[in-house]
Amino acid sequence: MAERANPEPCRNQDLGLFEVTKRDGAARIGRFHTNHGSFTTPALLPVVNPNILTIEPNEMWQEYGFEALITNSYVIWKNDELRERALKEGIHSLLDFPGAIFTDSGTFQSYVYGDVEVSPEEIVGFQRDMGVDVGTMLDVFGRPDMSREQLERAVDETATRAIPSLERAGGELLLNGPVQGGLHDDLRAQSAQVMGIAESEDRGFAIHPIGGIVPLMEQQRYRDLFRILLASRAALPPDRPVHLFGCGHPMLFPMAIALGADLFDSAAYAIFARDDRLLTPEGTVKLESLKEWPFPSKSLSGSTPEKVRLMDENARCRILAEHNLEVTQAELSRCREAIRSGTIWQLAEQRSHCSPQLRDAFVWLQDQLSEPDEGPVGEAVLSLIASCAPLREGGEPLGDDIEFRPHILHMHALLATRWRVPGSWWDSSTGPPKRVVLVEGASPPWRNSIMREVMVSLLEEPRSVVMIATPLGVIPFSLEDLSPWCHLVGPDDMWSGAYDDEEIRDALSDFGLAGTPLTRIFPCEGDWIDGEKLSQIQEWVDRCSIVDKLAVLCSVHPLQSCNITNRLGVRRSRTNRVINVLSEDEHVLSPRLTDGGISLTLAGARRLNELHQTPPPKFGEESPDEVFSGVPRICLIDDAIPFVGAGRNVVHGYSSGADPHLIPGQPCLVVDSKGSLVAHGTSLSTAMEVSYMRKGLAVKVRDGALKGE
Ligand code: GUN
Repeated sequence: MAERANPEPCRNQDLGLFEVTKRDGAARIGRFHTNHGSFTTPALLPVVNPNILTIEPNEMWQEYGFEALITNSYVIWKNDELRERALKEGIHSLLDFPGAIFTDSGTFQSYVYGDVEVSPEEIVGFQRDMGVDVGTMLDVFGRPDMSREQLERAVDETATRAIPSLERAGGELLLNGPVQGGLHDDLRAQSAQVMGIAESEDRGFAIHPIGGIVPLMEQQRYRDLFRILLASRAALPPDRPVHLFGCGHPMLFPMAIALGADLFDSAAYAIFARDDRLLTPEGTVKLESLKEWPFPSKSLSGSTPEKVRLMDENARCRILAEHNLEVTQAELSRCREAIRSGTIWQLAEQRSHCSPQLRDAFVWLQDQLSEPDEGPVGEAVLSLIASCAPLREGGEPLGDDIEFRPHILHMHALLATRWRVPGSWWDSSTGPPKRVVLVEGASPPWRNSIMREVMVSLLEEPRSVVMIATPLGVIPFSLEDLSPWCHLVGPDDMWSGAYDDEEIRDALSDFGLAGTPLTRIFPCEGDWIDGEKLSQIQEWVDRCSIVDKLAVLCSVHPLQSCNITNRLGVRRSRTNRVINVLSEDEHVLSPRLTDGGISLTLAGARRLNELHQTPPPKFGEESPDEVFSGVPRICLIDDAIPFVGAGRNVVHGYSSGADPHLIPGQPCLVVDSKGSLVAHGTSLSTAMEVSYMRKGLAVKVRDGALKGE
């Protein structure tokens, strides 16, 4: 096999920056930039004990594709020979590893053995002098069984050491700023907040590990583990990777990643191998009882459990460690691929069935998602939902847990807050609806399967709100082609499911239709109706769909959308779907056939920008909190305007404000400080992320508004 080349150092200005290249809610694929290469996250940093090299670091680089590892600076500092060599040759030569090297500081040793003999500043200076890429300050380990007072002291002492440690690290050594606080949500959030803002003249912390969690993992207290991750994330700056200190079991990766963890480290691959145990993404297996391999790997193929049992201890430990590393890497690949395909939550859902403790944690998470606690955990859960792109392409597999998937909760929340009954009806009458017509037992595409019922109902009573009953709740017919509802995948009979009266009543009351008379109908064969009024009804139905999508997805007030859709024209595909929407003969938007969303044109973006009455958003200033605040805007700083105006993407670090209702995956407007349109596109970030991130894309621009100027 060809040698893997050594990594290129990052550009000076990128040192310590983290950029997100793909996201699925809180889960993100990122690049972290160091002097020994930029590496992809989520990643596991294998723990290398410089005294016992089960697998050589260079082999980890060459054979297993690890781009970064972690070792312990205190272990090196304590050993005279290692210390001398590390200071003389540098850590990369000592370990023979060309990628990024992280070091821990001795905190874990102080947890296991009591005190350590080194001062906080000295151990940071030592990490710097060895040429480490990312070191760790000497934090105070907060055990979950400590009293609140002890944990407060651990948080305070860690905070007190933060700035002197950053000062000692200087500009070249990046530092981990661990979050402590035991099981107390408020202490975790407080610790995250102070560590997040700590800064020396050179820089702040580059990464935030969540500390003090090893005892929880040993006791399989996963609910506590994920609670702590959420409470900490609530107050951490979103531009920094989050590391779960000491977590390395692949079974935990999908759920941790779905909640925003970017880095893991663990000696599990070696420790479990020494104990004759194999890691799998579904749990741990003991070699002793196996007849066949329950989980394949390149390392074990061609061998049998019997043969491995007969190996001498070193060979056995090595082959099992190799298997464990392989499985760990494969599960991280699977997680990254799930982020790319927008299915990380589904993977977490699947893995939750691997252990009762993990399932308990997942069920708790689902409870939080549907009814968030007050405090940091609830805040993190709400941000997680808001960070999920609500619309997805492709099928949405039905499952017991489907209603709790965060992107579906997001879509439901948008629907519940932003959908409104039509203000006027196809016969030009106005006033409240006279009835709700609920169509049941029909499968998508509903524009084909129930159009006859829709027309008949509207002919019969123009002031009818037509709704569709789906296995995932009731939706207005105007949103019939919106994912996830029209993309549900499951057995055919899922569409014929009966809904009880109470379910229907609850669903309608969410839409403000509790008091409106209800007609429930099932589609049946019948002749296609004809008549001159049908084209009038069709036009009204098309208009409702555009108004509702602009309201639900883009926060445009229905009355304003009605103005835009005045003198509406549509162009249809051969299958009769609307593909272009014209207003006063100008193409303003196109419904997206893949997910039911809308793509604006430049003319549409201009019209929608003109509707904004308030000045452009500014970081640090309150934005008005209204249900319909208009298409969210990002305000650019002057330097970037010519580039973005010509159609280039908006990169992080060039914005001076973002509307708080910015939604990843949905349209946004890019404006200058006077509010004039510079470009429009699809946001890739939340407003909070735009305010913090310094690298990577903020908006994928569809079109610049200043071309040719
Ligand atoms: N390794 C495992 N847990 C911890 C922790 O809380 N702090 C540090 N520095 N290292 C750890």
